Amino acid sequence: MKQIKKALIPAAGLGTRFLPATKALAKEMLPIIDIPTLQYQVKEAVDSGIEEIILIISEAKEDIKKHFARNEEYEQYLIEKGKPEYAECIKNIATMAKISYVYQYEQKGLGHAVLCAKEAVGDEPFVIILGDDLIINENGLPVSKQMIDIYNETGCSVIGCQQVAPENVNKYGIMALKGELNNRRAILKDMVEKPDLDKAPSRLACLGRYLLTPGIFKELENTKPGKGGEIQLTDAIKSLALKEDVIVYDFIGRRYDVGDKYGFVEATIDFALKRDDMKDKVLAHIKELLENK
Ligand code: G1P
Repeated sequence: MKQIKKALIPAAGLGTRFLPATKALAKEMLPIIDIPTLQYQVKEAVDSGIEEIILIISEAKEDIKKHFARNEEYEQYLIEKGKPEYAECIKNIATMAKISYVYQYEQKGLGHAVLCAKEAVGDEPFVIILGDDLIINENGLPVSKQMIDIYNETGCSVIGCQQVAPENVNKYGIMALKGELNNRRAILKDMVEKPDLDKAPSRLACLGRYLLTPGIFKELENTKPGKGGEIQLTDAIKSLALKEDVIVYDFIGRRYDVGDKYGFVEATIDFALKRDDMKDKVLAHIKELLENK
């Protein structure tokens, strides 16, 4: 069985939900405090044992390349200024993984973005990490690693899911299962992209983590535009599931929707409350706000 060595992170989207911030800045570079969301996703891949990360970008996203490139001159400057910890920090960003880039020139949907990376992935199973879903499993395995472990056991594609509230099913790819979840897993029967609540087969939503066998590329090549006129990864997975078992996995971890402004604020507060350098001040501020309410 082939090992999982590569992760794809699609990052070519326009980020219109965060305008005007994203007019000149890649939305993936918006930071939760001082770390761009994309860097958390890259770290999840690295912590999961991934060796190569393929970022799918557009020509408007050169700031992403700059962020992950080595800048020895700047490192040297920081060392000379007596800030070796910052020098180390920016060096780590550039050296923590092998990062390569694939361009998506047209915005034709997530399925199309993934298909752009066909040559770069090759004939291997791979992980997809969506930038809008920031998933933290404190003191446990990162979600991508949880899924890699399932693949290593079964050789099957794995879709990372969690239950969502009824009013949110129309935002996600929703799963229909063969049987019930057992040991957090089930076999996928059907998958529907952003259904209305009355048409949703369940409340189990795909939350931005996929581990796919390379067979997905053939399905993507045959996938016609679906919901919203876009080539949907969901539709290709549905076709793949007719040919081979695809496992639906109810992952362990707290997921933040950082593609949404409220989700972004939630993540910022939670992350600040976990940091020793900020926790007390932020908590004192929140208490003060509550007392003056
Ligand atoms: C995409 C997928 C959807 C999935 C979601 C997870 O939608 O198309 O199936 O549930 O990501 O975040 P998007 O949020 O890009 O519209």
